Amino acid sequence: METVVSGIRPTGNLHLGNYYGAVRAFVQMQHEYNCLFFIADWHSLTTHPKPDNIVKSAHTILAEYLACGIDPEKATIYIQSDVPEVLELYLYLNMNAYLGELERTTTFKEKARKQPDNVNAGLLTYPTLMAADILLHRAVKVPVGKDQEQNMEMARKFSRRFNNIYGVEFFPEPQSFSLGERALKIPGLDGSGKMGKSEGNAIYLIDDEKTLTKKVMRAVTDAGPTEPNSKMPEPIQNLFTLLGIVSTPDTYEYFLGKYNDCSIRYGDLKKQLAADIVAATAPIRRRIMDLSADEEYLKKVAVRGAEKARESARTTIDEVRKIIGFGK
Ligand code: TRP
Repeated sequence: METVVSGIRPTGNLHLGNYYGAVRAFVQMQHEYNCLFFIADWHSLTTHPKPDNIVKSAHTILAEYLACGIDPEKATIYIQSDVPEVLELYLYLNMNAYLGELERTTTFKEKARKQPDNVNAGLLTYPTLMAADILLHRAVKVPVGKDQEQNMEMARKFSRRFNNIYGVEFFPEPQSFSLGERALKIPGLDGSGKMGKSEGNAIYLIDDEKTLTKKVMRAVTDAGPTEPNSKMPEPIQNLFTLLGIVSTPDTYEYFLGKYNDCSIRYGDLKKQLAADIVAATAPIRRRIMDLSADEEYLKKVAVRGAEKARESARTTIDEVRKIIGFGK
């Protein structure tokens, strides 16, 4: 079975965009691949040197992933800082990573611009740590968004370079894994663009019915179509996109008909949409609540995940030591 690795930075709660755009596909993938999903808490120190409650943030993500259906019996789910082996690989890769190429990385330049008082070496070597995360398990597929493409290129470069320097065929070249049709682009409800935490338009899986309904009812609309079968402006298209995901085909057709004959009332559409999002996410929300309250269980999952990840990591590190020449 091919190995898949993906890291998630522990920056807050999962929203509908994360769920339909990635996590739901991860849940399917765990049956088809040897999957390792980890929470990149060390990475977060590059931007947040004094995190508020690093264990709690990691456990929040852990609870939400489990609630979405990641099965710790099928996939390995672990917290990065529980698997120190990655640091050794990070060190070796850093010995063959060059200042120029690290400085040229777009994400580095962006972050350096954003936090000019904290342009630290961790930020510079973020791509090396990410490559180490992936190569640690000799993963071949990495499901990530387009924004990670450059980091993925670096990972491939570091992999090739290691093999070349030591004259081995040890690390594979990890490929970005497009989730294809399994990943849906979830629009925001503020008129244009996608749903995102930083966009401030996110509907979170943990939002209760009242919060969620309020967010949907505030969605941007317009005065409505004046001519039959007119093209939908983006804000309306976005509402229909969501409706297509969470509602039944009948409901979708019903409102589409109303739009096309100009009798649509957006208030009704939003009410239905809110109710259907509530229904679609309620079981997940309940599981998040239950899991978050069960600290013991979360700890157990994290410990078991770390054990599995360390086993896989150990195999790689032992080989790497031999390849470089450290003896046993
Ligand atoms: N850089 C990724 C992000 O910002 C997170 C990440 C860290 C990652 N290590 C990884 C993703 C390894 C995939 C594989 O989202």
